[in-house]
Amino acid sequence: MKTILITGADGMCGKAAAKVFVNAGYNVLKAGKAALDITDLNKVRDFFTQNKIDFVLHTAGYTKVDDAESNQEMAFLVNAEGAKNIAIVSREKAIPIIYVSTDYVFDGEKGSPYLASDKTNPINIYGASKLAGEEIVKKENPMHYIARTSWLYGEGGKNFVSTMIFLAKNQKIIKVVNDQIGCPTLDYDFIEGLRNLIERKSPFGTYQICNDGYVSWFYFAKKIFEILKIEVELLPVTTEEFPRPANRPKFSAMQSDIPLRNWEDALRHYLS
Ligand SMILES: NC(=O)c1ccc[n+]([C@@H]2O[C@H](COP(=O)([O-])OP(=O)(O)OC[C@H]3O[C@@H](n4cnc5c(N)ncnc54)[C@H](OP(=O)(O)O)[C@@H]3O)[C@@H](O)[C@H]2O)c1
Repeated sequence: MKTILITGADGMCGKAAAKVFVNAGYNVLKAGKAALDITDLNKVRDFFTQNKIDFVLHTAGYTKVDDAESNQEMAFLVNAEGAKNIAIVSREKAIPIIYVSTDYVFDGEKGSPYLASDKTNPINIYGASKLAGEEIVKKENPMHYIARTSWLYGEGGKNFVSTMIFLAKNQKIIKVVNDQIGCPTLDYDFIEGLRNLIERKSPFGTYQICNDGYVSWFYFAKKIFEILKIEVELLPVTTEEFPRPANRPKFSAMQSDIPLRNWEDALRHYLS
């Protein structure tokens, strides 16, 4: 039985990954921040020496997109240095690494869905730190999968879907931006896509895995309330009307390298 180490195991994606790989018959080694702080190279080395590992799924990350603008050092420490530590030690032990990355490595100016080979150009600190992580992983461990995904939601953490449901219980009017477009992705679908990628022994490299189709945050919210039959006044706003510390790409939809179901079908399945 193959053993997969999941870093960031207490996060949303880490929890979904643990479920998917356990169901698929893997031995899953879950490591949250307390068990494996990825920023400490010695601890990472000890952990890998004490455990038999066949694959590392590196989901740990600094994920607070707006906070990263004023916390650049921490974002790079976790997303770049932390990834470097995992990549170095996994290479030393001849273990492949899967690094989970993001659509925010793109600037959003292309105007059509990004391919994995398209030029990156992050426009916020989070995206820059994740891109630095991608590049370090590629350099430090030739046995790598860089797996970009986007707009993740699922049951294991706070996300756009849970926020909309919370807001609907507490506000009569909800304003949502209508000029940022991307691919909402159910975390289980992403992880199933990842499993598919590694089980079919795809060549190492950079891949994108997201639900099919793209939409604005406003229409994503509209669909959530429609499916749940929640009556709320939903107002489309522009990014200028709803300023945030971090810039967001206007159009960061990606073409998925592993075909997944349509985002609406995934959302409907999740909410039912
Ligand atoms: N959510 C999305 O829409 C999305 C989209 C594309 C890519 N991604 C990427 O997917 C991965 C997982 O994201 P997620 O949505 O599951 O985020 P999440 O829920 O915030 O999970 C990230 C986990 O990493 C942990 N972590 C932070 N610093 C760490 C450290 N020094 N050592 C070990 N663990 C540490 C966090 O712990 P604490 O919470 O205790 O700090 C958290 O449990 C991230 O790499 C993210 O960049 C996410």
